[in-house]
Amino acid sequence: EQLQNILQQMPKAELHIHIEGSLEPELIFELAQRNGVALAYKSVESLRNAYAFDNLQSFLDIYYAGASVLLTEQDFYDMTAAYLRRAALDNVRHAEIFFDPQTHTARGVPMHTVVDGIWRACQDGPISASLIMCFLRHLSEDEALATLEEALPLRGKIIGVGLDSSELGHPPEKFARVFERCRQLGLHLVAHAGEEGPPAYIETALDLLNVERIDHGVRCLEDPVLTKRLAREQIALTVCPLSNVKLRVFDHMGQHNLLDLLDAGLAVTINSDDPAYFGGYMNANFLAAFEALPLGLSHAHRLARNSFTASFLEPEAKRDFL
Ligand code: ADE
Ligand code: ZN
Repeated sequence: EQLQNILQQMPKAELHIHIEGSLEPELIFELAQRNGVALAYKSVESLRNAYAFDNLQSFLDIYYAGASVLLTEQDFYDMTAAYLRRAALDNVRHAEIFFDPQTHTARGVPMHTVVDGIWRACQDGPISASLIMCFLRHLSEDEALATLEEALPLRGKIIGVGLDSSELGHPPEKFARVFERCRQLGLHLVAHAGEEGPPAYIETALDLLNVERIDHGVRCLEDPVLTKRLAREQIALTVCPLSNVKLRVFDHMGQHNLLDLLDAGLAVTINSDDPAYFGGYMNANFLAAFEALPLGLSHAHRLARNSFTASFLEPEAKRDFL
């Protein structure tokens, strides 16, 4: 019907996509074969059948195992090129792409191999794209600081930093020093907060890390004072509907609080998080949310507009999209 066509065809920006989460099982097997890496699954089907998750950690375990097939610059290029082609089909016009360097440098893959492969695919890609380097919050702040040092020669290829991986027990304040250093370097700042973690993590991400956007943030509604602040300051939330259902943040899409977030006046955006693992890219996220919830045309326009407003595009580029 008509709303579906509008959702599919309207221009959008994607602000929450982990590039390692775009690695489809077929490409995992292709790269494993190319690189002589042994996998714990004997077929594409058996790997895909393992994609049933109880929570964030049960997903992360399999997501880091999948990333172990990435060894060469060409591997990172091929993964990123595949994502950009797929995003373009959904009328994503601009993507701000997360990558997890520590997942790769810990296996002996050099930082420049990771960044150059992803970055070169973005240069060659069909849409506008930029890179956000994420620190793994289950590791120490000293390891994050060492990762930042390693990335400094590649500073020109990175627009910002983020914070991801296991949220509970790893509050934002653990990374206050490294985020301050990044702020001084002029990098944009974002962090995952309020996905599985409490609203207090959203507050410390804002006050102690000085982030400009909150990734997920869906648990903010548990704190009315925080909700009013997020609305007043128009802090963007990069919400990922299919991810939230797959990781059991909500039992099913009909329970998702997307409409409540919008009704609270928040700067909500829709994103795919780890599309190869959660059952769909950008448009699948829009369609699933709009099918399950009483959302209409005005919500669609607001969500698409928010995605560009909340992006780190330069003002002139932003204006061209709006
Ligand atoms: N890494 C990849 N996807 C993630 C998510 N949704 N939350 C935390 N870390 C992640
Ligand atoms: Zn994420």
